[in-house]
Amino acid sequence: LARGPSFSTTSMASISRITVIGGGQMGSGIAQVAATHKHEVTLVDVSQEALDRGKAYMAKSLKRVAKKKHAEDEAAQSQFVAEIMSRVSLSTKPQEAVSRADLVIEAIVENLKVKQDLFAQLSKAAPQQAILASNTSSLPIGKIAELLDSQRKQRFIGLHFFNPVPQMKLVEVVRTKEADQEVVDSAVAWVKAIGKAPAVCKDTPGFIVNRLLLPYMMEAIRLLERDVASAQDIDTAMKLGAGYPMGPFELCDYVGLDTIKFIVDGWHKDGEGLKGNPLFASSTKLDELVKQGRLGVKSGKGFYDY
Ligand code: 3HC
Repeated sequence: LARGPSFSTTSMASISRITVIGGGQMGSGIAQVAATHKHEVTLVDVSQEALDRGKAYMAKSLKRVAKKKHAEDEAAQSQFVAEIMSRVSLSTKPQEAVSRADLVIEAIVENLKVKQDLFAQLSKAAPQQAILASNTSSLPIGKIAELLDSQRKQRFIGLHFFNPVPQMKLVEVVRTKEADQEVVDSAVAWVKAIGKAPAVCKDTPGFIVNRLLLPYMMEAIRLLERDVASAQDIDTAMKLGAGYPMGPFELCDYVGLDTIKFIVDGWHKDGEGLKGNPLFASSTKLDELVKQGRLGVKSGKGFYDY
């Protein structure tokens, strides 16, 4: 497709204004990391309360970092946090917030229709050269971009961060069939510029990490269902026998059991190339826990009590 002169591309060096849509754990983590690396960040959510929560997540995490950086100096700790937070603006107006963005990262609820509608709305206001990205864990990037025109699709990718964002080094850069190589290159450079390590992959269910992690988690749950060992012993085995920082049940509780169920059910039902795959078949144990509201750390109970 020929590009008109008004359609200039964003060079790697020019990604400096970031808009993050969604102030939950992931969105606020991404905003925090970008601001830490001197980017001007706007964090967007639907209400002031949601934004205040996001701001509180950032402040708590930054205090943790500050305490290590300036162990004996409380004034330096406060200054460190304030300096980074000064680069983060808050907004409840998505269109206004993307109007000057070089890069927009969406980290809202995992609902395809809601994400598609959001990007349709954002594309009316974002600069033509902006890179648009989704932090989805399990939805196809190409489908999220489906309502956009072909120029927007060329500048649309996945940027998948991991929890806890300030600590986890990896970002998956997900390349759709339509994405420009130059956009992927810019995203890779930006990921490095914020101190993370990129892994580029195609737009397939679960990308790399979740495609391997979800079968592992589900197999751990099936071991428990077959009464092979207790959750504690399976966790101990994987931590001490395989060197994982968390055992599979600690990790399930950390990620959220509702999130895990949502992902495996979605892939089992109609994931590209995964439909009916027994690796992602439902588990009675998981279904029961979710039904009881035992969602993991966030609800105070999951496989373990918190
Ligand atoms: N903000 C800032 N720093 C943080 C942090 C946060 N939110 N959480 C942890 N840290 C830092 C700590 O300060 C500490 O730093 P230090 O080593 O410099 O002192 C370091 O991380 C380790 O933390 P802790 O000592 O408190 O605890 P652990 O050693 O148990 O580490 C952990 C915690 C980093 C969460 C570790 O257990 C871990 O890596 N777990 C696995 C996490 C994982 O697999 N995440 C991916 C989940 S899947 C996902 O996100 C994809 C999604 O799509 C489903």
